[in-house]
Amino acid sequence: MKHVRGRMIVAVSGGKDSLVSSIMLKRLDIEHELFHINLGIPVFSDESLSVVSEFAEQYRLKLNVVNIEDYAKKTIPEYVPFAKKMYHKDKPCALCGLFKRYIMNKWAWEHNFDYIITGHNLDDAASTIIMNIMGQNIDQLFRVAPVIERKENVKMVGKVKPLYWVREDLIKQYVSKNNIRTVQATCPYAASVHQNRIKDALRTFEKTEHNFMVNLVKTIKKIQKIKNISISKNVEVLPCERCGFATTSKVCKFCRIIEKVD
Ligand code: AMP
Ligand code: FES
Ligand code: ZN
Repeated sequence: MKHVRGRMIVAVSGGKDSLVSSIMLKRLDIEHELFHINLGIPVFSDESLSVVSEFAEQYRLKLNVVNIEDYAKKTIPEYVPFAKKMYHKDKPCALCGLFKRYIMNKWAWEHNFDYIITGHNLDDAASTIIMNIMGQNIDQLFRVAPVIERKENVKMVGKVKPLYWVREDLIKQYVSKNNIRTVQATCPYAASVHQNRIKDALRTFEKTEHNFMVNLVKTIKKIQKIKNISISKNVEVLPCERCGFATTSKVCKFCRIIEKVD
């Protein structure tokens, strides 16, 4: 984090990781605001908003809230039939992830922030690497990084993951020791079951093979360094013809989806 300078916004879901990221920044005296996307999911989104609002008040941080439908036309539950019809998926999770990333970047860009801080932790990084290895996604494999720098030409705000090297069980311990209120409701659609299975396997492995996850992530970093592979070397990132934000095709995924939605 030391070399990262500028206006920072922490994207808070109400979950432990993003709230702890904000606390870490506070402890390092790094000024920041909070950003929350209301996904419109009954119970889950209501509780998330209540948690982040209480957190902002307690830590005296400015909270910025947007509603997903103001950007993506519909709430996440309203996307369920669309996900089924267009992608043959029972759950809207992939669309939700894509919308969140797009909205975070657009909002931060339009409000002149230099970096978006997210709560991704070591378990997220290690499991993403394994998933990319399993899928032979070499381009994506080297995109997992704690800091991604801003790119002016494609309106891409910098990204920082302060908990990138921190195991999830340690974050859980910190939250319970410090009595930090986090969202208890779970998203009714639940995140990728596949990634959760990989995380469970990694945690089991970690118990006997100490520091396995750190070593896995460091090995990928070393290969990247030795082979001089830049994060964006293999993929050409261009401005979207419609919105001007980053894409690897002519029109970004977000714009393509929104065009299909009534
Ligand atoms: P996820 O993709 O749900 O695992 O979330 C990854 C990161 O994105 C979290 O650690 C947060 O920093 C951020 N995030 C997730 N959901 C939201 C949300 N509703 N509003 C703002 N930021 C979010
Ligand atoms: Fe997005 Fe569950 S949080 S679908
Ligand atoms: Zn676009």
